[in-house]
Amino acid sequence: MDKDSTLTLNTGTNIPVLGLGTWQLESTPDTIVKALELGYRMIDTSSDYGSQPGIGEALKNSGVKRSEFYLVTKVEETDDSYERAISNLKELQLEYVDLLLIHRPPSEGSGKEMWKGLIQARDDGLTKDIGVSNYSISLINELIESSGEIPVVNQIEWSPFGHSMEMLSFAKEKDITIQAYSPLTRAKRLDNPSLSQIAEKYGKTSAQILLRWNLQLGTVPIPKSDKIEHLRENLKVFDFELSEEDMNNLNQLNEHYSSLGSLPYV
Ligand SMILES: NC(=O)c1ccc[n+]([C@@H]2O[C@H](COP(=O)([O-])OP(=O)(O)OC[C@H]3O[C@@H](n4cnc5c(N)ncnc54)[C@H](OP(=O)(O)O)[C@@H]3O)[C@@H](O)[C@H]2O)c1
Repeated sequence: MDKDSTLTLNTGTNIPVLGLGTWQLESTPDTIVKALELGYRMIDTSSDYGSQPGIGEALKNSGVKRSEFYLVTKVEETDDSYERAISNLKELQLEYVDLLLIHRPPSEGSGKEMWKGLIQARDDGLTKDIGVSNYSISLINELIESSGEIPVVNQIEWSPFGHSMEMLSFAKEKDITIQAYSPLTRAKRLDNPSLSQIAEKYGKTSAQILLRWNLQLGTVPIPKSDKIEHLRENLKVFDFELSEEDMNNLNQLNEHYSSLGSLPYV
């Protein structure tokens, strides 16, 4: 596995094994340019991050071919999802995105109408694939039952400190890929002593251990950083392997921790 490796989604398309988060980036175009130069090929954004215009500008000026990057964006739970798919493309200056997600379930129900809008957007070529974010097992099952369409991805907060093996087994059974947001715990648990001990053993940083844990689990981390040294560090996770024992030690750190409040899928 290296930075150009991909996983195959349940529709047969490929997704990079690691990407760049863009929520709260301070200087979006500069960071995107730096990240592309370093070799990042997946970018995660959303209509509510404010980063789409800067990403669009950077991609346009980068000279990187459309087929060589993977763009993930989202519609909000109060949106007309089809209309938002169109306005996202305008902001991004793109003809299609690779993956379009429902950002979070609406306050009631599973968002069946929004899901229909996403299916239409995919059928009309506005996105290659469709998925969800912040969905529980029961809400995903409702969407599948209503449409016969299985989301390719559930993007959820996911780290050794906050995850669910029940969700992982369900995702494997349905061939849904888990995309891991806040994979670095928003830097809140990087100095955890058990994590630091493992990092020291491998001569790596805590952040690199958290990312590697994801890669070995088959989940797809999207760490965010504005800093060139962190962008570089977060890509240097392909030259070592965690032992089975250390993967288990990391799993033991689970306290259903959420840097944002609570894990909506537990
Ligand atoms: N679907 C959803 O509801 C949802 C929710 C939250 C996030 N997301 C997506 O997931 C992405 C990532 O999650 P996140 O931004 O919440 O958190 P994160 O990636 O876990 O953490 C980002 C924080 O870690 C710091 N950092 C990055 N690399 C580091 C390193 N190597 N060493 C030390 N600190 C480091 C960053 O600071 P610097 O910038 O200074 O490096 C920033 O403060 C988001 O940007 C967004 O695209 C999705």
